[in-house]
Order: sequence, then C-alpha cells, then structure tokens
Amino acid sequence: MNEKPDRYYLTTPIYYVNARPHLGHAYSTIVCDAIARRKRALGVDTWFLTGTDEHGQKIERSAALAGRTPAEFATAISAEFRGLWDQLGLTYDDFIRTTEARHMRGVQHLFATLRDRGFIYKGSYTGQYCVSDEAWVDVPAGSPCPDCGRMTETVSEENYFFKLSAFERKLLEFYEANPGFMGPESTRREVISFVRSGLADVSISRTALKWGIPVPGDEQHVIYVWFDALANYITALGYGSDLPEDQERFNRFWPADMHLIGKEISRFHCVYWPAFLMAAGIRPPRSVKANGWLLFDQGKMSKSKGNIVRAETVNTVLGSDALRYFLLREIPFGQDGSFSFDALVQRYNGDLANGYGNLVSRVVNMVHKYFGGVIPASTSDDALVETAARTIAAFGPEFDALNFSEALKGVWTLVAETDGYLTANAPWKRPAERPEAEHAALQAKVLATAAEAIRIITALVYPILPDSAAKVWRELGQGEIADAAKRAFLTELAWGGLKAGTQFGEPTPLFPRAEKDAVERMQNLEDENNRTVIEAATGKTGIAQSSPQAPASALSIEPSPAAASPSVVTVQPGSSGTSRHQATEQGDHNLTPATTAPVDPQKPVERIAITPVAAEHASSRLTSAPTMAPMGGTLAGAGQAPGTQDPGAAGLGLAAASGFAELAQTITIDDFVKVDLRVAQILVAERVPKADKLLRLEVDLGYEKRQILAGIAQFYEPERLVGRKIVIVANLAPRKMRGLESNGMLLAASLPDGAPVLAGFLEEVPLGARLK
Ligand code: MSP
Repeated sequence: MNEKPDRYYLTTPIYYVNARPHLGHAYSTIVCDAIARRKRALGVDTWFLTGTDEHGQKIERSAALAGRTPAEFATAISAEFRGLWDQLGLTYDDFIRTTEARHMRGVQHLFATLRDRGFIYKGSYTGQYCVSDEAWVDVPAGSPCPDCGRMTETVSEENYFFKLSAFERKLLEFYEANPGFMGPESTRREVISFVRSGLADVSISRTALKWGIPVPGDEQHVIYVWFDALANYITALGYGSDLPEDQERFNRFWPADMHLIGKEISRFHCVYWPAFLMAAGIRPPRSVKANGWLLFDQGKMSKSKGNIVRAETVNTVLGSDALRYFLLREIPFGQDGSFSFDALVQRYNGDLANGYGNLVSRVVNMVHKYFGGVIPASTSDDALVETAARTIAAFGPEFDALNFSEALKGVWTLVAETDGYLTANAPWKRPAERPEAEHAALQAKVLATAAEAIRIITALVYPILPDSAAKVWRELGQGEIADAAKRAFLTELAWGGLKAGTQFGEPTPLFPRAEKDAVERMQNLEDENNRTVIEAATGKTGIAQSSPQAPASALSIEPSPAAASPSVVTVQPGSSGTSRHQATEQGDHNLTPATTAPVDPQKPVERIAITPVAAEHASSRLTSAPTMAPMGGTLAGAGQAPGTQDPGAAGLGLAAASGFAELAQTITIDDFVKVDLRVAQILVAERVPKADKLLRLEVDLGYEKRQILAGIAQFYEPERLVGRKIVIVANLAPRKMRGLESNGMLLAASLPDGAPVLAGFLEEVPLGARLK
C-alpha cells in the first residue's frame, strides 16, 4: 500500500564509468524516462534519479590504463553519460555522481549508523574477487567468475563485515509480505532461492585500493563499492545531510517506488540493499524491477564483449523517438531482446512512418485542404469511440505493469482502425450521386472523428514518443504538450476533447520513411566510431587516450575487444640483459601466476592475461585479427624473414591476405621458455637526437631499472608512454645503437600498415612478473 500516492520516486542503476554509454545503458534509462513522463502527466510529483558509479577497483584500473587519474577519468566518462541523456532529451530530475561530497557524506553516515547499531564488525577474509563485477564470488582460487567468465583474483584482507546472516528470515518475511517487491517472476524466484539457501556475512570494505570512500574513523579502509553505490538512492535525496530542505526531500520521496535495474544486479538490489536499509532502520524500496538484456550479435551487449551499438547512432539517423519506440515495443519488458538495425528500420517504417506518421499527415493535410485548417462543427460519429475508450482503459494498467509492448500494441490497434475508418469513408472522394453539401458534412464528421482519435493516440504515446507527440499536439492546435503534461492532462483523457473551431498548426514531417541506406548509414557510423576509438587508443590520430586533448570518446578503457591492442609479439631492434630471476613453470600458457622473485609473497597471487582478446571477440566488421609477427629491424614492414615460414602452416594465406604477417615457424615449448618476457613500467621516454625512429626508454622491472631503445618514435609521443606498463623481452643480449646501449626489447602488435601497438594488461600486474 502506497501511503504517499501523490509522489513517485524512480531510479536507474548508476552506471560504471569504466566505459562509455551504449544502447544497453540507454535502454534502462529510457524506460525510466517514459515512466517518469507518464507519472508527471498524471499529476504525480515525480522524482527521477540517474547517475554514475565512480569508485572501485575497476575504475581505478581503467583510469591507470588510460594514463589518467581516477577522478579525471570518472569526470570525463560521467559527462559522456550525462551528455547522452541530454542529447536524447531524458528528463531526469537529478544526476548523482558517487564522487560528490553529498554522496560521500551520506555513505559514511550510513556506514557509521550500521556500525553503531551493531551490524558491522571487523574480521579477516580470503576469497576470490571479480573486479569486473566488483563482487566476491564463491569459487576456488584460480577459477573464473561464474557470472562474467573473467578470471577472479584471490584477495586476503582485514575487512569490515556486514551481518547479512542476521537478515535471512527478515528478508524472506519481507518478500512474503510484499509480493510485488521484485519482478519479473524469474528474478523473484532466483532471489528467494538464493536467500533460502543461507546468507553469509559480507565484506563491505577494502584495504587494497585507495579509490573509494574512506571508512569513517578507519581511513586505511575504503567502503566496498556496492555499499557505496547502492546508497546513492538515498544520498541523492539528502540522506545524511543536516539541511532542512534535504531532509524534507528525503522524507517526501523515500521509500523509492521503483529501482529499475538490469537483471544481473538483482541480488545486490533485492538482498543486500533491503538488508542494509533494515539494519539502518530505514524502509526498503517498494519495488525493484529488472529489465532483460539487450542482445547484439547473439550476446549481451557489453563493452567488454565489444558488441555494442551507441544510442547516438540511432538518434542521428532515425531520431530518439524511434529508438524509444523500438525498445519499448519490440522487447517485452523483463525478457532479453535482440537489437538489430534491420529490425529497427522495419519497425520504424512499419509502425511509425507508414502507421502513426502517415495517419497524422493524411488527416492534418485534409483538414487544411477542405476546412482551411479549422476543425469543423459536425455531428459526431461513434465509430471509433468504443475502441478509443477501450484503448485508454487498457493502456494505463498495461503500462503500469511495465507491459509497454502490450500497451503500445493496443494503441496501434486504434491507429489501424482509424486508418481503416478513413479508407472506408474516403472523405477525399465525392461519388457523383452524393450532393456537395452532404459530402461536406461527411468530410467534417470523418475528419473531426479521425482527428479526435489522433489526439487520444498522441496523448497516450506521449511518454514514449515525446518529441513526435509534441509536434502532433501543435498540429492539432492543442499547444505545447509539455504544458498539458504539467496540467496532468492524462488524468482526464477521454473522447471529445477536440473542439469545433480549433485552428490546426502547419503539418510538419514526423517520421520520414527510412530508405534502404538507413541500415548502412547506422553501420557506417558505428564503424567510423570504432575506428576513431582504435586510432585514439593506438595514437594514430595523434590524439592519445591519455592526452589531455583526447576526446572523451577516445576513453575506451577496459579495451573493447574491437579496439583492443592485439597482444602480439613484434620484435624491435634491441638487445638484452639477463634476467636474474628464473620463474618456475606454472599455469597454462596464457595465464601465469606472478610468483617470480620480485613479487611480494605477502601479496595475493596476481594473474597476468596476455590473451589475444581481439581475435576471440573481434566484431565481424573489424579486421584486427592478430598474428605472431616478428617485425624485423624497421617499423615499416611486418614481413617475415625469408626462410622462416612453415609452408605447411594452416591459415598462412589468410594472414597474408588480411595484411598481417604470415605465421612463424612452429616452435616447441622448450624454445618458447628460452624467451624471458617480463612486465615493466616506463619511467622515462625521450627522443634520440638525429634518429627520428628511436625512443630512449628507462624502464622499471621492479627488481632493476634498464635502458631500452625502441623504434616506435613515429607512432608514440614519448610523454604519453611514461607510467605505462609494457611487456619486454628481458633476456636479449645487450646491443649498441647510436652509441647507446639497449637492454631488452618491447612487445607490440604489428598492424598491417606496420604501426605498432604496445602490449598491455587489463588487470593490475606487478612489475617484473614473468609471462609464460
Ligand atoms: N554500477 C553498477 C550498478 C550500481 S546501481 C547501485 C553497474 N553498472 S553498469 O554500468 O554495469 O550498468 C549496469 C546497468 O546498465 C544494467 O543493470 C542495466 O540496467 C544496464 N545495461 C547495461 N548493459 C545492458 C544490456 N546489454 N541490456 C540491458 N541493460 C543493460 O552494474
């Protein structure tokens, strides 16, 4: 029972700022925008919150990879989210960033409250942590995350714990008493069975990272990012503030009516969050509703899979209403749904251009043509009254139950009936036997009736097609629909609102038919964007990811496979020193526990991944499949030394045809282990006078520092390299170049045009760790 029915508070998840927004994020935010618009148009005092989740290890690492501070990095990506929501015309009331003082203060207040109430204690913990999900997972050391498949890390820390175990029964009782709390049904079942299987206490602080909110009174610890993030829903309203206006807003809008989330984060929202709130003596939210996943190319659209589409692309070619309509009409809420440009264009042309848009244009044009743009007085025709009434009555409950697709289907039945009604009555054609006056009366009746149906249709679809509805509202002579919404026009929506004598506005193009090339244009925009990201990541445009002038759009961190540097060995001129540390043979060839001497044995075992992610996931439109390519003495060619290729090797022709060097001769593992590959960090990078291809680097291997000369000066600005972690061949014999000694060699992928892309890491990795 909602005891505050005149107000409605709804939220989106706050989005991680490790990568730029894509259509998946837009989906959840658009759904909330549609709900917020309808609520406001029903006269409900609505508060719609969105924002960005900016702390934690994932962001800290992404920022380091980009060569920026976490704060700079978060600010740039957060601005991209906000900018996109503005570009799409989304009507959020507040945008919270978890790095804002108001949030940090509120989170510390919540933490202190829970501690004071005896729900937080200190203990030590060893377990597997998934950085990508920012979650502890119950798997043995060395196993991947069961949710996202990425490698987990063993973390052993002294942490603060939350007594989640104390809430097992309370949560089950709460779910029982509030059957509408979680949805859809599949989510409800999963959550209940998770809680029934027993709840263990959860760690809610970390010491291994700095990028977070300090635990009040024990600043060695930062608060676990999910505790921090979930609290945004209350801190944004003013929780933890002494200001009367904040307290008033909090009291007015809490508890939230709905947290709309993606289904993968239901456990955090349906188990942890209500438990934290119960422990603090705050009421849990009224509901948590999970949208399904937007799939593209068969998988969940996600940055790390590299199968994303940007909302900007659809907005540019078809407009944001087309995107909104597609997402809400095509995908039954709660289920996964495939996105494709073809399906989008088909829906757009079928339902919007040929359906609603065409209907509006026919009727408005005829009112102008036959009645000078003024709605004539006429005896009313009841033909559509019943369907209209039924549509109005069904729309609200379907929409409120989040069955947007069904609600829209109902409206399009009215569109089709109105179309049919026009065709059947053909007001544009006077049969010879029909007297002129009689025909004029029929025209008046048919057009007034059709126009009234359009008014009803337009009012109903306003939350989903706000821009188009605003245009049609003006064409129908109704003024600004946003003003009507402020007057709660949906509360009194009924047949008969269009009065005789209403002056219509000029017809405006609504949904111009999408031509055959629309799909191609959208694909080209995506390809163009991917190219820009790759170029920015490889520095080929001269705009480096880490350079201050880099567009925020170049911040493609947690490198998208499409944009990832292929992890390929490219031999640079240079020579070696000898490694003083021989690692033991452990792990498989891609993943090597960093147990070599320079690594602190007290620290958890890190794993280094140098997997060719680009090859694994590269989008079919991108040809970034890497091959092993010794690059010889110059950077210009990726050619193989004569006589080194294995004529029988499969795929040779393919590699050559794609512009990559051919596969090298087969070697045994014994040959490979002779090469000592190590993680190093660049401390100094500078040009070598009179050698335009050479850079002089000083690198830190953790256990020693060395000088390496690398022929990459034409592709990398030296300033941009400082701080970057790279891979070097550490046991090449030293060699002199331009009078300088080079002690090692960098590894880089070699692109078809010869440009190098330095190998790097997605995860934190200690200096000196050996690659095997
Ligand atoms: N920061 C956490 C949420 C904290 S909320 C207190 C997080 N962020 S996220 O950037 O990964 O965004 C997750 C949300 O974005 C999902 O829960 C979902 O709402 C939306 N989506 C991201 N990709 C999506 C799809 N491919 N499909 C549908 N929604 C998607 O998790």
